[in-house]
Amino acid sequence: MKIVVTGGLGFIGSHTVVELQNENFEVVVIDNLSNSSIDVLDGIERITGKKPFFEQIDLRDKAAVQAFFEKHDDVAGVIHFAASKAVGESVKEPLLYYENNVVSLVYILQELQKKPEANFIFSSSCTVYGQAEVMPIAETTPVQTAMSPYGNTKQIGEEIITDVTKVSNINAILLRYFNPIGSHPSAEIGELPMGVPQNLVPFITQTGMGLRESLSVYGNDYPTVDGTSVRDYIHVVDLAKAHVIALQRLVNKKNSDKLEIFNLGTGTGSSVLEVISAFEKVSGQKLPYTIVPRREGDVTSVYANTDKANTVLGWKTQSTLEEAIASAWKWEQKVRNSR
Ligand code: WQD
Repeated sequence: MKIVVTGGLGFIGSHTVVELQNENFEVVVIDNLSNSSIDVLDGIERITGKKPFFEQIDLRDKAAVQAFFEKHDDVAGVIHFAASKAVGESVKEPLLYYENNVVSLVYILQELQKKPEANFIFSSSCTVYGQAEVMPIAETTPVQTAMSPYGNTKQIGEEIITDVTKVSNINAILLRYFNPIGSHPSAEIGELPMGVPQNLVPFITQTGMGLRESLSVYGNDYPTVDGTSVRDYIHVVDLAKAHVIALQRLVNKKNSDKLEIFNLGTGTGSSVLEVISAFEKVSGQKLPYTIVPRREGDVTSVYANTDKANTVLGWKTQSTLEEAIASAWKWEQKVRNSR
């Protein structure tokens, strides 16, 4: 069964390709290599022994998207990761984000709408909830006004998909991720942030390797366990496995609605200082950090109510925070030592 993974050479996409191949799906990867490396294909092959078919396509090119789906007319499902995802950049360059994240989604859905049946998994984000009033966050928690153009593109994407599933033969599942971290245990693939990492865990591992002087902890005056902000850090392999389960749900026609939504997290919140402690424990080294003012746009605390994914998908995270951090650290050491 052929599955298309857009953004399949990216962080979450590549880990999902591995899990799809492990389940004997035939995988076709689309990526424009704007935020990923072609070498990831070899990493995937070293893990699974199978090199996915790859096409370098920019999904903003409508004709290229049409040509792709005409050529691959036997696609059973699409898992759509391809998108720009830097919150800060989206504030400075909103039109880049609306074009890349929204227009390209429309082009893909236009092609799927032509098929007798289509299954679509959308990479969404807990960012659609903003700073929810009540923790943990369930799928029924109201979506709030987006805090950034990036977050808005995810909300708009969800709305587009909702509208299209009502009037077409497209079945869709929206997966709202919390904070993906870690790397495949083989250390053959992992997170490859370009430039200075915006996200906490890659900044920590680069600091651990001496690439960064010190971690800036954005605020310790939040109303939380230790004053630092709280997030739900989910191992990327657990996240990848959830995508395969969601896809199987659609291709096996187990979905109860044409559009379903699932939060994907551990269900546990961890503060920045708790993540630092976990790193120090797994690495055996102290992490230099300084407390600095809060980062604009950060929310106090976000973590998932995972009941629906646990009961309806039959999926639950397997890895602990320390295991996830240890896998990120192993990957960082491998990447730096091989340069
Ligand atoms: C985590 C925590 C920071 C860096 C982002 C996106 C979200 C999703 C996940 C795509 C926060 C603190 C961070 C640093 C710090 N991405 N921090 N020093 O902001 O929760 O979510 O990634 O879907 O859309 O917004 O993740 O890793 O940037 O921050 O203190 O150098 O670590 O304040 O509390 P975030 P993050």
